[in-house]
Amino acid sequence: MIPDKIPVGGDIYYGAAEITKGAHVPNFQKYKELYLHSIQNPEEFWGKIAKEFYWKTPQTGSFLDYNFDHTKGKVYVKLMEGATTNICYNLLDRNVYDKKLGDKIAFYWEGNDPGDSMEITYKGLLQQVCKFANVLRAQGVKKGDRIAIYMPMIIELVVAMLACVRIGAIHSIVFAGFSSESLCERILDSRCTFLVTADGFYRGDKLINLKQVVDEALRKCRERNFHVRKCIVVKHNGGTEEAGEAETSITPESPPAKRPCQGKDNEETKNTHHKIQVPWNADVDVWWHELLKEASDECEPEWCKTEDPLFILYTSGSTGKPKGVQHTIGGYLLYTATTFKYVFNYQPDDIYWCTADIGWITGHSYVTYGPLANGATSVMFEGIPTYPDSSRFWEVIDKYKVTTFYTAPTAIRLLMKFGDGPVKRFSRQSLKILGTVGEPINPEAWHWYYTVIGNGRCPIMDTFWQTETGGHMITPLPAAIPQKPGSATFPFFGVVPAILNESGEELEGEAEGYLVFKKPWPSIMRTVYGNHERFETIYFKRFPGYFVTGDGCRRDRDGYYWITGRIDDMVNVSGHLLSTAEVESALIEHAAVAEAAVVSHPHPVKGESLYCFVTLKDGHEFTNTVVTELKNQVREKIGPIATPDYIQNAPGLPKTRSGKIMRRILRKVARNEEDLGDVSTLADESVIDELFSNRCKTT
Ligand code: PRX
Repeated sequence: MIPDKIPVGGDIYYGAAEITKGAHVPNFQKYKELYLHSIQNPEEFWGKIAKEFYWKTPQTGSFLDYNFDHTKGKVYVKLMEGATTNICYNLLDRNVYDKKLGDKIAFYWEGNDPGDSMEITYKGLLQQVCKFANVLRAQGVKKGDRIAIYMPMIIELVVAMLACVRIGAIHSIVFAGFSSESLCERILDSRCTFLVTADGFYRGDKLINLKQVVDEALRKCRERNFHVRKCIVVKHNGGTEEAGEAETSITPESPPAKRPCQGKDNEETKNTHHKIQVPWNADVDVWWHELLKEASDECEPEWCKTEDPLFILYTSGSTGKPKGVQHTIGGYLLYTATTFKYVFNYQPDDIYWCTADIGWITGHSYVTYGPLANGATSVMFEGIPTYPDSSRFWEVIDKYKVTTFYTAPTAIRLLMKFGDGPVKRFSRQSLKILGTVGEPINPEAWHWYYTVIGNGRCPIMDTFWQTETGGHMITPLPAAIPQKPGSATFPFFGVVPAILNESGEELEGEAEGYLVFKKPWPSIMRTVYGNHERFETIYFKRFPGYFVTGDGCRRDRDGYYWITGRIDDMVNVSGHLLSTAEVESALIEHAAVAEAAVVSHPHPVKGESLYCFVTLKDGHEFTNTVVTELKNQVREKIGPIATPDYIQNAPGLPKTRSGKIMRRILRKVARNEEDLGDVSTLADESVIDELFSNRCKTT
């Protein structure tokens, strides 16, 4: 229940008083009123919001129909039955033609290197999207086809995703830091017929030959009898093609890319940065700019049902295999647009910057869909926080006069290590609102963010949500909900959280337990691609009638929600969820490994890191070479973010008599905590001493 008012004083923060002027929700009472309306009469609440968007045909059936209780039949959520729309039309055409925002900047693009920048207006973006949508149609892409996108943070990535949704195709974006194996696995799972990528890019001073990873992934797909029809390549790094595999021929030298989305060349870096040789397979590869040359910039949208799939985004699953989280058009549009507007108190002259990569859900919802649905101007950033030095974020904030800054706790902790100096070199005076996402923020980082970055003026929106939820679930609102450092505060409109105990009973008042949601909200995921049963099992089986988040949560006596972290076998590394089972299976593939168990270990910057215990097969010795090979193995299988920090030799693992590994004990060993709790179910206690004596030295 939402309290009537918030206590004053203590560790509670409000931000500057000016934030309340013209705020969409000016105070807590108003929040409570709107919140109650949203859950008592969702049809009226969301129906009013839906009127701000364009629907080709109106809703004919019920507004919301759902079943959360799998014991009563299939779990489903259906919104606005009968209505048809196109999300790209709502993001672009509606803003250009109805709202007259054609000349407004949609994105300021800031490249990896300072000085490498460009901008694109709503009109410009619409033209590019239409061109690429026509290209896809001409290539035979149809409504419902899946298109894989594996790209750096460049404008063409937004163009590609919106072109897909314009013609009713489903995008499946794979973060460009994932390995070829991960890309292949994702292409295969959803049978993507096309792949859109880029030649290469710089991440800091590291050159990434993206196309090489793509070629490996496509080779792996072919080995498993799957062939993508075309691989469309943006010339971003500016490299030239080289002959690829046996079946390829050398394509003629293509002209230098003419990109309307092209950044300005930076004289300083032009000479020091290398161009890559792009492996080229003429059977499937084709340059983006060549396809676009002749394409028309007018393209009739495909009108889709609200419940038609919009995109698939893979997220780690606790059983190891990533799950294709599927979102649908109407609900996702309403919810991302509304959360963006209220959580960031969006005003038309704001300059908004979300530092997330579009390869993650935060980038989908709050770089692309939410801001564009509101006609906002955003900064899109290709680089990293520490290149060329640790003041890059603050420099970019001053450069574009950013008002709203949304980043991850791991980035804040990383930059905090460099002290206040790099921050104070820039004024950051334009800032009004700060935000965080992805993991719990520790109070120390929160205070630094608030006092040093925000100069004690800017409220911090600690937004709790998930790939599965599509948008913010528990979050402050700038003028209405005072913040407690480390708490995501209260539920957003339409969200009904509950805390359950082990037996599934709802706990009232001050309590701690499993965080669940009792009712659907518009952007709840609708299924796991191709596996509805897995969707029901993961999210609805444990507590019938509830959506289970997999997170633990505490509610304090003021009604504030505090996310305490995952309670399943997931590890949150730098805001990215990894499944311990997935890492274990990557380790076990090494010839020397008999068994592996992976647990999370606290990390001062990443939040959590991976601590791995491996049992080697007889005849193999635990050497530094094996450790390096194992780390590389995980990098190659999953990607650099999954690289383990620690690998420990474990000739014996703690197991129950039925052979189940007791990870609870391994977590204690990793942390060097000798109080192991109840060990009565342990089959062989003698392994414990050896585990402690083999411990890795941790930070
Ligand atoms: O454990 C929670 C944590 O991140 C998980 C969701 O991860 P993912 O699907 O990758 O989406 C990340 C971006 C939305 C959650 O189950 N998490 C996310 N935001 C917070 C958080 N934990 C605490 N506080 C948050 N604000």
